Order: sequence, then C-alpha cells, then structure tokens
Amino acid sequence: MQAIDIIAKKRDGGELSQEEIEFFIQAYTQGSIPDYQTAAWLMAIYLNGMSDQETHDLTMAMAHSGDILDLQDITPIAVDKHSTGGVGDKVSLVVAPLIAACDVPVAKMTGRGLGFSGGTIDKLESIPGYRTDLSEAAFKAQLQQIGIVLTGQTADLAPADRKLYALRDVTATVESLPLIISSIMSKKLAGGAQGIMLDVKVGSGAFMKTLEEADRLANAMVKLGALAGRKVVALISDMDQPLGWAVGNALELREAVNTLHEGGPADFREHCIIIAAEMLLMSGKASDINAALTLALETLASGAAWRKFTQLVKAQGGDVRYVEELERLPQAKLIKPVPAPRSGYLARLNAAEVGNAVVKLGGGREKKGDRIDHSVGVIVHYKVGDLVQKDTPLFTIYANERVQMEAAEERVLAAHTFSDTSVQRRPLFYRRIAS
Ligand code: URA
Repeated sequence: MQAIDIIAKKRDGGELSQEEIEFFIQAYTQGSIPDYQTAAWLMAIYLNGMSDQETHDLTMAMAHSGDILDLQDITPIAVDKHSTGGVGDKVSLVVAPLIAACDVPVAKMTGRGLGFSGGTIDKLESIPGYRTDLSEAAFKAQLQQIGIVLTGQTADLAPADRKLYALRDVTATVESLPLIISSIMSKKLAGGAQGIMLDVKVGSGAFMKTLEEADRLANAMVKLGALAGRKVVALISDMDQPLGWAVGNALELREAVNTLHEGGPADFREHCIIIAAEMLLMSGKASDINAALTLALETLASGAAWRKFTQLVKAQGGDVRYVEELERLPQAKLIKPVPAPRSGYLARLNAAEVGNAVVKLGGGREKKGDRIDHSVGVIVHYKVGDLVQKDTPLFTIYANERVQMEAAEERVLAAHTFSDTSVQRRPLFYRRIAS
C-alpha cells in the first residue's frame, strides 16, 4: 500500500477501507509517512468528509495506535470529561478536582490549544514544574494514590492523535467533523475511563458553528462510545461568547483557582457545577440530578475541590506556591484596559476573534512547536445582554509587545457589537444526549 494512493483516493471523494485507514495511521505514527503527506491527507478529509464507517475505523485505528488503558483493576468507574474546544474554556481545571474530591476517580488525558481554542495542558504548564507527559505506569499509580490525573497524551496512549493534533493545528484542518470525533474519542477510549462526559461547544468560538452540526458531533461521539462499551453523556453548550472572563493561559488558570475558592465569574461557575453534576450522576455517586447538583455545590463550598487541586499540582511536580499565591504566575509587562467606545447593550462578542487575538499575542501556536507565552491574554468585562457605559473598561489586554497589544486591541474591539435596545442573555446549555 502507498500513502500517495490513499491520499488520491480521498482527494477524489472515494471511501477508504479499514485496511487503508489502519495502514495510514500506523505508518504515520511510526514515522514512515511524513508530515507533508499527512497534511495533504488531512486536507482531503477536511474537504471531502468521511462516512460513518470511515470515521469509526479512523477512531479505532487512532485509539489502537498505542495502548488502551484498563483501569478496572484500580476502580470500577473512573470518569473522564472532554470539551470539543472553546475560548475561555477552563472547565476541566475546576470540574476534575471537584469530582475527584467526591471520591470519583478522574482519569483525564487532555490537549493543547488548537487554532483559536485554548488547551488545558497549556494552561497547566503556566505552573512551573507541572508535568504533562506522564507514562502509562505513572498515570495508573497516581490515579490509585490520589484519584486524579490531568496529563497530556503520553507516548503510549493514542500517539497518533498527539501527532495529528499538532499537525491539524497549523494546517487549517481543525474544523472537520470526522477529525474532531476521532481525535476526541480515540483519546477517551485509550484513557480507559468507563464514564465519559462530553462538553460539545457551539457558536462563534467553537469548531461547530450551528446547533445541527453540534448535534451531529455529539450524537456520533455518544454512539461511538456506547459501541465501545462506555457510558457517555454529551451536553451541547453555548460558545458564542468566551466562557467566564479570562482568555489566555495563566489568566485562565487564575480564574479557575478563584472559582475553586468560590469566586470567579457566575456563568463559568454555573457551567462547572452542571458538568460536575452530570459526572456525579454518571458515576452513581448521586441518585438524581438534584442530589448531584447539591453535592457539587457543597464540595466546592467546603474547599475540598481546591484541596484536591493542590494535591494534583504537587503529585505532577508543579510548584504549588504558584497557585496558592497567584501573583507568582507569569505576568505580562503591558496591561491595558480598553474603554467602551459607546454606551449600549452588548449584542455580540465574537469568541473566535478574542481567541485569535490571544494567539497573535503569543498565547497560542501559529506553527508546529511554537513556544507559548503563558502570561498574555484578554479579560472581557461584559457578557452579552449587559448594559455598557461609554468610557468604562470594556476589556483588558495583557501583552508583552506594544505592536501586538495594539493589534489585539483593534481585533477585540471589533469583536464587540452593541445595540440600543435590550438584548437577551445567552443560555449556557442547549441539549443533552446520552447513551
Ligand atoms: N479536542 C480534541 O481533542 N480534538 C479536536 O479535534 C478538537 C477538540
């Protein structure tokens, strides 16, 4: 079999066989198909799509590109959660320790930023020393010892996704249904959790722009998970404006820590509590959604979720002083509050544009392997529906270069749209899909 024939078949709209997909994934993982051929193949998939069968075969080939963890000897029900990608989405940083503090083991392999959307691993790496490359043995040992792991993809688990993810990020091939489904579900299946919570984002700051697309993505992932014998719940959530206020790695980590101390933005806190409640329900820790919501709220209020977070940071080698004393986190040299150009109701806040502004500030990658500046970002001060007064701070830019700061200011300002008449607030969630 030749890579070039498989690329040509997909380019011409053909349906790939299981053997062809397995060959491509194995050879790419082992390094015998180079990035340039894989980039062409990804673009052909992006442009021509994949059938349900191809998407299933791709997911399984990627999941089996490394080991599949079996966690049953550690716990009968470990849970995992994954977001399809958004702007200001730091939900895992709060929800994972919250669930683990309720004695439900959380085994999570998580990703880096992708396009305009941030990644939990990049956020955690704002903490000096925090290791995101745990081996399979270390993953299992830590899960057994403290009941929580938040790590990047290891060399052993779904290595195909680790390579493809980085390549997609810089070849404009992120927003593709089969590529997103296979990326997320291969990691989740390899990670071994029995319960999988999917936060499927929709809107300007998500890869799925319409409810119909998000619905197709959620249904496909729930179905794939169920076929593999996992319990899966998907919630479709709004990502038409950033979640919370902070966008940018260290700024988001700070906001998550504030939320673990019961502060933080109301929309973000509520979002975390609802996702956590679904996970508690899925694990059998609560008998109905109301009991699950109460347990999630009590666990946050008691400080147990915060204590579990510090335990996690220490276990993965992070310097815990950076989350105990937030002023130690990377700080940008230039901080500029930008005044509102007019009064009015905030009608739209284009989340992707805010995410792109943060990438340009250095908070995301434009080329494979780019280093991230953890200190930069944007804090928005209003949510859609809020009444804004002219000349009050509309958002604040955190930058290290003046030219970049000015470009970001212009871009984020243009992302805000105003109305003279009142505007409805956006809902947090739209739909629930369960296996
Ligand atoms: N999250 C992932 O892990 N992969 C994607 O492709 C998109 C979001």
